[in-house]
Amino acid sequence: MGTDNSNTTAARIIINDRSVETRKGQTILEAARNAGILIPTLCYHKDLSPSGSCRLCMVEIEGRRGQSAACTTEIDEAMIVRTETPDLFETRRTVLELLLRNYVDAGYAGTSRDETEFMRWVRHYDARLPEGVSPAARYEVAGDPNPFVWVDLNKCILCTRCVRACAEVQGRFVWGVGYRGDDAKIVAGLDSTMLDARCESCGACAAYCPTAHWTTKWRSPAAGPTGWWSPRAPTAV
Ligand code: SF4
Ligand code: FES
Repeated sequence: MGTDNSNTTAARIIINDRSVETRKGQTILEAARNAGILIPTLCYHKDLSPSGSCRLCMVEIEGRRGQSAACTTEIDEAMIVRTETPDLFETRRTVLELLLRNYVDAGYAGTSRDETEFMRWVRHYDARLPEGVSPAARYEVAGDPNPFVWVDLNKCILCTRCVRACAEVQGRFVWGVGYRGDDAKIVAGLDSTMLDARCESCGACAAYCPTAHWTTKWRSPAAGPTGWWSPRAPTAV
């Protein structure tokens, strides 16, 4: 009886003029990472199912119109991919500038905004708000009474990593996306508090957030003694 090796069959594709060996079923992002080629991401985390929502990982594929999300596009035999072009740079900068329009960091939690994954990409792509545009906070800072985790929806870019980490890593279903359009936001349960939504304060949401929307209170200067609780640390993105 034969062995089904369809998931391991090697296929070669070209990424940035380099021949790269891949496995069938891999995404472009996975193939690129295996080859040491960096594609920027925000909603993607290797521990979580892909959502393909942020559009930061866009790449160009020869013969296809427009740009494709590397984190959700599976490789095809003989695919030719470009991950760095002037158009892609502009796309990524635009994506980040749109996210910045709803991003406000009150700086209350002792985590420097420059340390976050989001701000690292903002700097890398030199994303800026237009002159005179200064987003206002839309939510109460530290708007949840959870004793362990600061919650500041003003820093949320709706990547949903927290929702997926809670469900897929912890097997809890505390978080979801509530409301629609401009009112869409991350909600606990039916928009209650974390504890009312049966949160166990595991810290997975904080650990997987690329903007430090969630910040563990033990890291805050206001939190008192440190070291008595720490979140589950995720592996690298
Ligand atoms: S809170 Fe963080 S992880 Fe959750 S959607 Fe917002 S930015 Fe993403
Ligand atoms: S990382 Fe691919 S769409 Fe967000």
